Amino acid sequence: MQDVLTRTAPLYDRVRRVIPPAEWAVFADDIDAILELKRTRNAVILAHNYQTPEIFHCVADIVGDSLLLAREAQTVEADVIVMAGVHFMAETAKLLNPTKRVLMPDMRAGCSLADSITAADVRLLRQRYPGVPVVTYVNTSAAVKAESDVCCTSGNAKRIVESLGSDTVIMIPDEYLAQNIANETGIRMITWAGHCEVHERFTPEEIRRLRVEHPGIVVLAHPECPPEVVAEADFAGSTAGMQEFVASGKASRVVLITECSMSDNLAVLHPEVEFIRPCNLCPHMKRITLPALRHSLETMGTEIMIEEHLAVRARQAVERMLAL
Ligand code: 13P
Ligand code: SF4
Repeated sequence: MQDVLTRTAPLYDRVRRVIPPAEWAVFADDIDAILELKRTRNAVILAHNYQTPEIFHCVADIVGDSLLLAREAQTVEADVIVMAGVHFMAETAKLLNPTKRVLMPDMRAGCSLADSITAADVRLLRQRYPGVPVVTYVNTSAAVKAESDVCCTSGNAKRIVESLGSDTVIMIPDEYLAQNIANETGIRMITWAGHCEVHERFTPEEIRRLRVEHPGIVVLAHPECPPEVVAEADFAGSTAGMQEFVASGKASRVVLITECSMSDNLAVLHPEVEFIRPCNLCPHMKRITLPALRHSLETMGTEIMIEEHLAVRARQAVERMLAL
C-alpha cells in the first residue's frame, strides 16, 4: 500500500483541496490499478464535468462538456474508449468513432431527458408538424437521434437553431432548454415535456435567498434549468461555458446552479475563487465510480453496440451538428 501511496502522491497533490486524506487512502489503490489497466488495454477515459474529482482530475484523459467529449471522441486513436459519463455520451462516442470499443462502466447510468422520449414520439411530432425541422438534444438515445435532422448540446443550441433559418423549430426533449433558447432567439419552439431531474429542482427563490446570504455572488446557471431560474442568474451556459466564465476571472465568489461535482472540479483549478455550493446530485453520473471504471477495464465491459440501421441515421444528425 505504501508503494501505491508513493506512486499516486503527485495526483493527490492536485486534489488535496477537495479530497480529505482518509478518502484518498480508499481511492489510491483503484487509481493506481486504473492507470496501469489503461496502458495494458490501450484505453483512454473520457470524463464529463459532472464526474467526481478523483475521476476527473486523476484518471481521465479527456474532460469536458458534452460537446467537447463528442468532438474529441471522433479523433481518439487508442483501441478503447471508456466513458466516465452517462449512456448517451457513450453512444455518441461510438457513433463518431465506430471502429473503437466503447465501454460503459455502469449501464444503469441513464438520463431523465433521454428516458423521456422515444423514436415513435419523434415520428408522431413530425406527422403533426410536417416540414418543421427537428433539433434533438444529445441527451437522447441513438434511436431518437436517428429520427432527427440535427443534434445540439447546451453549448451550441442557439447557434444550431439559428442556422436552420426557420421561424419554428421542434426542439426536443428538454422543455426548459427549448424555452430558454426561444427567449434568446425569438424562434417559436415546439417542445417536449422532458426535464433534467437535477436542474429542474432549482428555484428562483433559492437564488434570491443565496444573493441575500452571500452578497456580491455571481450566479451561473445551466440552461437545463427552468426559464424563471435562468432569469435570476447573471450568466447561463453549458458546463464548458461556466468553466470559461470562472477562468475569465470576472468573479471571485460564484455559485454554480448545476450538478455538485462541477464546483469541486473547478475549485481544484481555481483556488482563488470561492464557490458557494447549493447543488443537486445526478444519480446517473454518480453511478460511475473508481471501482466501476476498474472493473470495466478488467472485464472490457459493457461494450456499447448500436444497430447499423440506427447508427447510420443517428450519426448523420450528430455529424451535422459538429459540422456547424
Ligand atoms: P453540458 O456539459 O453539455 O453542459 O451538459 C450538461 C448535462 O447535463 C450533461 O448530462
Ligand atoms: Fe441527464 Fe440531468 Fe443527469 Fe445530465 S445531469 S445526465 S441531463 S439527469
